[in-house]
Amino acid sequence: MAAFCYNERILDHFRSPRNVGEIADADGVGHVGDPDCGDYVRMWIKVDADQRLSDVKFRCRGCPAAVACASITTELATGKTLDEASEITDEVVGEALGGLPEDKRHCSNLAADALYRAILDHIVRSCDPGHKRVDAREGAE
Ligand code: FES
Repeated sequence: MAAFCYNERILDHFRSPRNVGEIADADGVGHVGDPDCGDYVRMWIKVDADQRLSDVKFRCRGCPAAVACASITTELATGKTLDEASEITDEVVGEALGGLPEDKRHCSNLAADALYRAILDHIVRSCDPGHKRVDAREGAE
């Protein structure tokens, strides 16, 4: 691991990731696997009556950048409306971490995409309560 290429903010979120875990009664779940390296992020969201994300948790298998991106994505998304949270892109995640090394920028896609898929899953569940999940993608469990 080339820790020298990560800034202190990235290292902080990697060493002490926030909101790790699962939400048993989640309102939406999103899963993204990276077919190039086999890493993945799964994200669970809880949505309150005001359509705000009241809780966001994740599990991740990936490099330090992927873990840090997932961690800060949960912080960025918590408290936001579904519309606001859906605007959290990989660029937003990278900027919130103070910039990612060039060869690690794709890692931020995992977290942003997993969050977006969790939001989509929630929307579909809201329209079709019997629906299971929308996060099917290559590598999904
Ligand atoms: Fe695969 Fe970062 S998640 S290299």
